[in-house]
Amino acid sequence: MEGCTVVAHPLVRHKLTLMREKDCSTKSFRQLLDEIGKLLCYEVTRDLPEEMIEIETPLTKMQSPAISGKKLVFAPILRAGMGFLNGMLELVPAARVAFIGLYRDHDTLEAIEYYFKAPHDLADRLVIVMDPMLATGNSATAAISLLKGRGAKDIRFVCLVAAPEGVAKMRAEHPDVPIWTAALDSHLNELGYIVPGLGDAGDRMFGTK
Ligand code: URA
Repeated sequence: MEGCTVVAHPLVRHKLTLMREKDCSTKSFRQLLDEIGKLLCYEVTRDLPEEMIEIETPLTKMQSPAISGKKLVFAPILRAGMGFLNGMLELVPAARVAFIGLYRDHDTLEAIEYYFKAPHDLADRLVIVMDPMLATGNSATAAISLLKGRGAKDIRFVCLVAAPEGVAKMRAEHPDVPIWTAALDSHLNELGYIVPGLGDAGDRMFGTK
């Protein structure tokens, strides 16, 4: 699908298979999500601009590449998006963090905002929004609208499992926001869960069910 990159790396696919298993423990689920988060972070930052800077090794001076351009903001959608945050911060420790609190109304499946805290200079940063499950797309599109309302212009979205319905909604509402996902699944069921999916990512991550 246009604007949607499926990260089909064997390590990512293997770890996701382990996570999908209904008997995967809370501990393993959290650990695997952290590991996949790092691998997805590697992919979503693959084209960051670089510049040559002069450094001095123990032997000589040299020109060596370093990341240039906009600084990063990681924006987890609470609460499941937190599962990606620590792993990504390990790779990009200087990134800022924006927290976006949204919950799904169980009847309408609409995203309702309850918390938003972000750096003030979003307009000057690359914002990477993260949420493991792109299902209806209601939370992702609402989060991105909030970020755009606060000035963000350069936004990417990272998830673990996407449904075609969620990708379509993102493409329709935010065609400027590319998506990276570990898998593109079949469809949503009548309750808005991704099939085959892995169930409720937040519950499985935090052991709340
Ligand atoms: N949120 C989840 O955690 N899982 C789904 O399948 C859909 C939305």
